[in-house]
Amino acid sequence: MNDLRIKDLSAHVGEEVTLLGWVYNKRSSGKIKFLILRDGTGYLQCVFFKGNLDEATFNEAGAVGQESTVEVTGAVKKEPRAPGGYELDAKGLKVTHATEDYPITPKEHGPDFLLDKRHLWVRSSRQVAILKVRHRIVKAIRDFFDERDFSLFDPPILTPAACEGTSTLFETPYFDLGNAYLTQSGQLYAEAGALALGKVYTFGPTFRAEKSKTRRHLTEFWMVEPEMAFADLNDDMDLAEEFLEYVVQTVLKDCAEELRTLERDTAKLKNVERPLPRISYDEAVEILKKKGSDFTWGDDFGGADETLISEEFDKPVMVHRYPAAIKAFYMKRDPENEKLALAVDVLAPEGYGEIIGGSQREDDYDTLLGRIKEHKLPVEAFEWYLDLRRYGSAPHSGFGLGLERTVSWICGLDHVRETIPFPRMIYRNTP
Ligand code: 4AD
Ligand code: MG
Repeated sequence: MNDLRIKDLSAHVGEEVTLLGWVYNKRSSGKIKFLILRDGTGYLQCVFFKGNLDEATFNEAGAVGQESTVEVTGAVKKEPRAPGGYELDAKGLKVTHATEDYPITPKEHGPDFLLDKRHLWVRSSRQVAILKVRHRIVKAIRDFFDERDFSLFDPPILTPAACEGTSTLFETPYFDLGNAYLTQSGQLYAEAGALALGKVYTFGPTFRAEKSKTRRHLTEFWMVEPEMAFADLNDDMDLAEEFLEYVVQTVLKDCAEELRTLERDTAKLKNVERPLPRISYDEAVEILKKKGSDFTWGDDFGGADETLISEEFDKPVMVHRYPAAIKAFYMKRDPENEKLALAVDVLAPEGYGEIIGGSQREDDYDTLLGRIKEHKLPVEAFEWYLDLRRYGSAPHSGFGLGLERTVSWICGLDHVRETIPFPRMIYRNTP
C-alpha cells in the first residue's frame, strides 16, 4: 500500500513521490496542464509541462475526466501560491479508473439535485471541510467528558415509551411485544447511569418524527447528553458553558483551514468564552416585548423569537426557568415558583437557535408519578424510571446538545442537511 498522503508532503520536498487519488479539477494554458489531485487529506496542484513529458502523458493530463482515479508521480516543490502550499512537478500519470461525465461539476447545482447525489456530493471540498469539522467536534465532545470523569453510557435505540412528547415518535412493530419506538433522547437511561456511575454521557443517534421543514430540523440527528448526580440547575449551566467554550475553542484551534474553506467569520466564534449570559424566560419575554413582538407569556419560543432574543448577545445565551406547561414531564419545578420548570435552553448566536436543552430532573417519587399521569403517559412503561426515585434518589441534572445544529452554527451553514453524511428529513430518506 502506498500510504503517502497529500497532507504529509511538507516532509518530502525535493523528492520524487507517487500519490494516489482523484482528479478534482483541471485547467490548461498552452504548454502547461494543471490537475488538482484530491486524496481526502488535501488538494495538490500537479503541473504537467509539455517540454518535460512524452506526448501521451501530456495529452492524457488534458483528457482525463473529473473524478477519475489516478496515480501521479513527480517531484514535490514548495509553492506558496498553490492550494496547500506545495505542488507536484509531474513526470507520470496513470489513470486507474477513467470517469466520464461526473454529474457534479464546478457549476452551480440546486440542493435537491445535490441531495439526490449525496453519495458523490460528499467528495466536494466544502462537504469534506464540514465533515472534518463534524469529526473534530465529536472528538472534542468525547475528550471533554472523558477528561472530566464522565463515563460513556450507551442507551437503547429501540425503546418502550416516549421521552420528549408523544407527537414525534417513530413506531415500529416489535415481535409479540406490541410496538417499540425509536428513541427521542437517551436521557431517561442516562439518569439510571448517573445514579450508578455518578457522571455519565450518552452520545448517539436520536429520532423525531418532526413535521417541521425548517433549516434546523432532521428526523434523525445525533445528541450528546451528559447527566450528573448531586447536581442542580446551576451546576448544569456551569457545565454547559464550560463545554461550549471547549468545543468552539478546540475547533478554532484545530480546524482553521476548514473554516477558511467555508469562509466562516471566526471573529464571532472567538467570543464563545465563559461566562455566558444567563437570563430567565421572563427576561427573554421582556426582550421580545421591547423589540415590539406580540409574544404572550406562557408560549414557547419559535425560531424567529429565538433569533430576536439572541441578537441581544454576541455569544450563546442561556435561558432558564421556562413555564412548566411547555416543558417535559420529568423536569423539576422551581421551589420559588411552581409554575416554572428548572429548565435551560442555550440559544446560539447569529440566528442558529436552540442548540442545548436541559434541566434539573424531578427526583421525588410522588411528584413524578403525578406528572406521568398528568401527561397521560403509560405508568407501566415508566415503572423502571420511577424505581430511580424509589431507591437512592438524588438531585440530578443534565442536558442534550444537538450535534448537527452545533456543526451548522460553527461552520456558518444555511441548513443542517449539510452537517451529516446522509441527512434524514421529513421529505427525504435516500440515498
Ligand atoms: O431540547 P431537546 O428536545 O431535549 C432533550 O431531548 C432532553 N432529553 C435532553 C436532556 O436533557 N438530556 O433536544 C436537545 C437538543 C436541542 O437543543 C437541539 O439541539 C437538538 O437536540 N434537536 C434537534 N436537532 C435536529 N433536529 C431535530 N429535529 C432536533 N430536535 C432536537
Ligand atoms: Mg428543546
